Amino acid sequence: MTTPSASPQPEALLAAVLAANETTTNPRLRTILAATIRHLHALALEVELTPDELQTGLDFLVAIGQATGPRKHEGILLADILGLATLVQLSNARDAVAAGGTEPALVGPFWRAHQPLRANGAKVCSDDTPGAPLQVRGRVTSLDGTPLAGARVETWQASPDGLYENQDESQRDMNLRARFETDAEGRFWFDSVRPAGYPVPTDGPCGKLLAAQRRNVMRPAHLHFIVAAEGHKVLATQFFDAEDPHVHEDVVFGAVGSLVRHFDSDGRGGYVLNVDLRVEPGETHLPHCPLP
Ligand code: BEZ
Ligand code: FE
Repeated sequence: MTTPSASPQPEALLAAVLAANETTTNPRLRTILAATIRHLHALALEVELTPDELQTGLDFLVAIGQATGPRKHEGILLADILGLATLVQLSNARDAVAAGGTEPALVGPFWRAHQPLRANGAKVCSDDTPGAPLQVRGRVTSLDGTPLAGARVETWQASPDGLYENQDESQRDMNLRARFETDAEGRFWFDSVRPAGYPVPTDGPCGKLLAAQRRNVMRPAHLHFIVAAEGHKVLATQFFDAEDPHVHEDVVFGAVGSLVRHFDSDGRGGYVLNVDLRVEPGETHLPHCPLP
């Protein structure tokens, strides 16, 4: 009669799971999986996770998937409210920022593919969009200050009612969204309205999580930018209104340092925002676009 082997101790179990991962062919995937396994085991031990709690966590992940579709990406929202998207942006850009590059910020769930290409100087919103006028003037340069002509600049923002056009039937399709190309001096410019802060979507499992944590759900007012210039890494960033009451408690932790700006008065009841976008030489690779 064989004696059943003793249950493995946590250390031996972890070693066995890590050994089983060693056959993963893709080396980067192997590294990421190994770290995931180590951290999940450590988490379970640290909090003495029960089977019921494990099941609750798995049901939560299923709910995240079920709430995701072509119009909404609850998974992006989860990474955002956990600070993970901001951490990944900041850690990947650390060297570029140390060399004078523009600080990055997360893309979020509201960038749309096929934002309309507009000429510099265009107004990106319909005439009935409420809010104070805002002129945006930007310049795209390399880290050494060389202006970058022909760069693709994507921008999008919420209306002063705090909604993106895809969340709001009263706005026209692609309102407050555009794509520009920089001129020979790396410049782009457009007319818009001063945005407002808004709550992140709370109608799904992330909303339940935020409520359980009793957290603020607001993002401070901001404009999004993605810059893609040939021979340079793509920069995703946002500029935040320093006067927004939530500027120091962004629910997705993106409103950092130099990205918080004062919108200057234009002397006629409107505002001006100047933005310098300094990007690092490297491979140009656009991020995944969450919305059609
Ligand atoms: C946004 O800025 O569009 C955004 C970012 C994270 C969660 C929700 C919205
Ligand atoms: Fe936003």
